[in-house]
Amino acid sequence: MIEVCNITKRYGHLTAIDRVTFRVEKGEVLAFLGPNGAGKTTTMRILTSFIPATEGTAQVAGFDCAEQPEEVKKRIGYLPETPPVYQELTVAEYLSFVGKLRGLAGTGLTQALDRVIERLSLGSVRKRLIANLSRGYRQRVGLAQALIHDPPVLILDEPTVGLDPKQIIEIRELIKSLAGSHSVILSTHILPEATAVCQRVVIINGGRIVAEDTPDQLSARLRKSEKISVTLKAPPADVVERFSAVPGVEHVLATADPQTVLIECALGKDIREEVARFAVGQNWGLLEMKPVSMTLEDVFLKLTQREDEVPASNAIHVGERS
Ligand SMILES: Nc1ncnc2c1ncn2[C@@H]1O[C@H](COP(=O)(O)OP(=O)(O)OP(=O)(O)O)[C@@H](O)[C@H]1O
Ligand SMILES: [Mg+2]
Repeated sequence: MIEVCNITKRYGHLTAIDRVTFRVEKGEVLAFLGPNGAGKTTTMRILTSFIPATEGTAQVAGFDCAEQPEEVKKRIGYLPETPPVYQELTVAEYLSFVGKLRGLAGTGLTQALDRVIERLSLGSVRKRLIANLSRGYRQRVGLAQALIHDPPVLILDEPTVGLDPKQIIEIRELIKSLAGSHSVILSTHILPEATAVCQRVVIINGGRIVAEDTPDQLSARLRKSEKISVTLKAPPADVVERFSAVPGVEHVLATADPQTVLIECALGKDIREEVARFAVGQNWGLLEMKPVSMTLEDVFLKLTQREDEVPASNAIHVGERS
């Protein structure tokens, strides 16, 4: 549904994005994850035919973003970083205006309006001036305008920014409900968002794609060792040293919780039995033992730290899939 092939965008001497390549299938939700200035918005603006790429091609539903902008725009709902709302209109007036721009009229327009107002829970502010809305409601109006013509492709630039936790959950649910029938790209800094709503994550840094995979695979691929967290009722003061002597244990780390330690062993090994037997034998009161996986946040920080800080073995190349 979306096909981006080697796109580069240069602003004078600055290369905002550098040979970016990825695909989004029909019904798929893809997260575009990256720090400030990574090139997320630039990529989205190329996909929505707002700006042309300097090199490379981008296609939406088979139409070229540079050559056939009208066809592309028809099939896309776009929520820019700053929602394009008119302060002096009411919510209903504004959405009706956008609907007309999208070619809707008569009962089709009324139905579309009711549908997005219901979907974004905007009923209570329908007649209010946009200027008087809170930031979260304005963001929802921005999303409503992206959905009004029920486009097959949605490009959402940080859709949950400025929303409160309850609204964030609502918007994530909404995005999840679009999966299957729509192709969605969303950009985010909020890492759990990627795990919560997306089947696939593209991590972009300094204009380049540094990783592309499912959230689970990404953390698995960067894992260097197995970690288990062990919580004890009565750990001795030298619990770290004592656990270090257990065969197979490579490292033991204290945590902020004095009752919990992290035990590391070689990748692929399972030393839970030995650790449990040892803790029980010492009468330390084994309360809990669980494997620890790397969070997407760990992965993100690892992949987006300065290049000279990243061990070469961690580099994941563009387009590489497991
Ligand atoms: N119109 C422009 N003219 C010159 N440079 C630009 C322009 N738009 C973006 N850039 C630069 O391109 C790079 C990528 O910017 P972009 O807005 O795509 O990043 P982003 O990933 O969306 O960041 P953020 O998370 O802060 O929104 C940045 O260095 C930015 O300063
Ligand atoms: Mg941006």
